[in-house]
Amino acid sequence: MEIVVSGVRPTGHLHLGNYFGAIRNFVKMQERYDCFFFVADYHSLTTQPKPADLHANVKEVLATYLACGLNPEKTVLYVQSDVPEIAELFLLLCMIAYKGELERATTYKDKVARQQDNINAGLLTYPVLMAADVIIHKAVKVPVGKDQEQHLEMARNFSNRFNNLYGVNCFPEPYGFSFEDKLVKIPGLDGTGKMGKSEGEQNAIYLTDEPEVIRKKVMRAVTDTGPTEKNQPVSEPVQNLFAIMKAVSSPDVIANFEKQYAGCTIRYGDLKKKLAEDIVTFTAPIRESIQSLMADELRLSRIVKSGAEKARASAGKTIKEVKEIIGIRSF
Ligand code: TRP
Repeated sequence: MEIVVSGVRPTGHLHLGNYFGAIRNFVKMQERYDCFFFVADYHSLTTQPKPADLHANVKEVLATYLACGLNPEKTVLYVQSDVPEIAELFLLLCMIAYKGELERATTYKDKVARQQDNINAGLLTYPVLMAADVIIHKAVKVPVGKDQEQHLEMARNFSNRFNNLYGVNCFPEPYGFSFEDKLVKIPGLDGTGKMGKSEGEQNAIYLTDEPEVIRKKVMRAVTDTGPTEKNQPVSEPVQNLFAIMKAVSSPDVIANFEKQYAGCTIRYGDLKKKLAEDIVTFTAPIRESIQSLMADELRLSRIVKSGAEKARASAGKTIKEVKEIIGIRSF
């Protein structure tokens, strides 16, 4: 079976955009591939989070993945730092990663341009660690967004460079992968662009938001002054609300509001009320499940330990092979 790897940095609550853009597909992929899904806690250290925040965020990602339907019997779910073989492969890959190519990574150049005070080596070698995450399991499919494409290209370069240097065929080439090709992009509530936490707390609906919070956020979402004539193009803020509705509401509800829009009788207050209720209905079981998992330390710890064991079994095999190839042999 083809091997799939994907990681997520634990940087805060996950939102509806994460669910429809990734997690929902992970749940389907676990039926079809050998999946390794992990929390990239080492990657998040580039910004030096507070220790208590880091731990809470790791826990919440795990609880969220489980609450959304990832099944630890079907998929390997683990925390990056529980698998020391990844850090070991990272070190070995650093020896074949050129400083120049790392400096040319767009994500790195962006950081250099925007936050000059903390350009650390972890930031520079971020793509090397990411390559280690992927090729440690010899994965070929990596479900990530477009912004990670260059990192995967670098991972392919490291794989090929290693193979060529030692004249082996150890690592395959990993590629970006969009499962079933229908990633749903969920826009934010501020009228422009996608849902994300960097756009502000009010822009995103988190899977852990209480119903009252969801209602407030939706009622405050940006709209326009309303259609005044037939076939008027729909403005971006209103299109965005319809797009979220398409993810959570039933087809007849959507058709009804579309008809009202076309007839210029739509009242955005009504649309928002219905949208908020449908989001609440959709997220309630997920939120409750996240809460009960977060309270069940023992269960989470069992799941994480068993995930780490499975991930280490796979990673250990690769590291053993890689060290043998390099000439790091035991006496
Ligand atoms: N860099 C990815 C991101 O920011 C997270 C990540 C780390 C990742 N390691 C990975 C994704 C390995 C896929 C595979 O989204």
